Amino acid sequence: MTKLTVLATGGTIAGIAGSAIGADYRAGEIGIEDYLEKVGGLGLEAELSGRQIANIDSADMGPEVWNALHPAICDALKDPECAGVVITHGTDTLEETAFLLDLTLPADKPVVVVGAMRPADAVGYDGLRNFANAVRVASDPEAAGRGVLVVMGDRVFAARDVRKVRTRGTEAFRGFPRESIGLVTPASLEWFGAPWRQGRGAAFDWCDALPEVVIVHAYAGFDRAGVERQVGENTRGIVVAGVGEGNMPESARQALVALARRGLPVVRASRTDEGLVDREPEDEENGFVAARALNPQKARILLQLLLANGITDSAAIQQRFDRR
Ligand code: SIN
Repeated sequence: MTKLTVLATGGTIAGIAGSAIGADYRAGEIGIEDYLEKVGGLGLEAELSGRQIANIDSADMGPEVWNALHPAICDALKDPECAGVVITHGTDTLEETAFLLDLTLPADKPVVVVGAMRPADAVGYDGLRNFANAVRVASDPEAAGRGVLVVMGDRVFAARDVRKVRTRGTEAFRGFPRESIGLVTPASLEWFGAPWRQGRGAAFDWCDALPEVVIVHAYAGFDRAGVERQVGENTRGIVVAGVGEGNMPESARQALVALARRGLPVVRASRTDEGLVDREPEDEENGFVAARALNPQKARILLQLLLANGITDSAAIQQRFDRR
């Protein structure tokens, strides 16, 4: 039997409504022991051992839980008996945790993040199927070398690509620029191609005190004051959720150029759901970085890690954003 470690952090996958048809529910209610008992009846071909890292709504996910989760994953991965790790997580910020882990973990063994859109006592609970799918992926030796993976709605996504695109429904996740990288059911798994990741080592050292990076959201009428309100004395970097291809009104642009010239890295991402933000000629003069395929919340994670690892020069930051 393949041995997997399950690290639970809460979310709707562990949520309870108190009614099969009710709209309201509380995320992060079922503990890992009870959850493993619940999945025990599925006949999964893996031996699961669990650990509760947190039991929260993932709106509250952040450094405190990450600082407990990361070493727990590393411990599990070091255990020669453990073939892979499954992390249960709320779907709202799942993409951020998955990307942070993807950048800071080795890729020798599968690490799979999974959630659910419906609470555990709701009619049509998707958590059991997603969990069974995640176990299948984490048990597959071919999952190694692909970085952190996300399993939702019978599909496997790469952490770098995945994003939550809908507030409701079980098909709430999509990938960009790669859509899904595999199809999974509790009984089958099909990969769309070989692993693309270069090397199996972690891209960045773990940092338990990530620097403050703010996301400023552009809109019609956004201006200098809108930028300045959000940038505090502890801010070390800025991601702009720009309009269209990372654009912004002129008054806001001038404020951001001034901040970039004072040494604060400024990354242009897009507030649209999909699309590349490519480098444009003015970025050189403005001192800006283009986020490429990363959405604002993922651009923020990458910028935090770069700054934490001492990479502050905009050309070096751009190089890292250009790399897939
Ligand atoms: C959460 O993110 O914890 C709540 C929503 C969900 O898991 O779908």
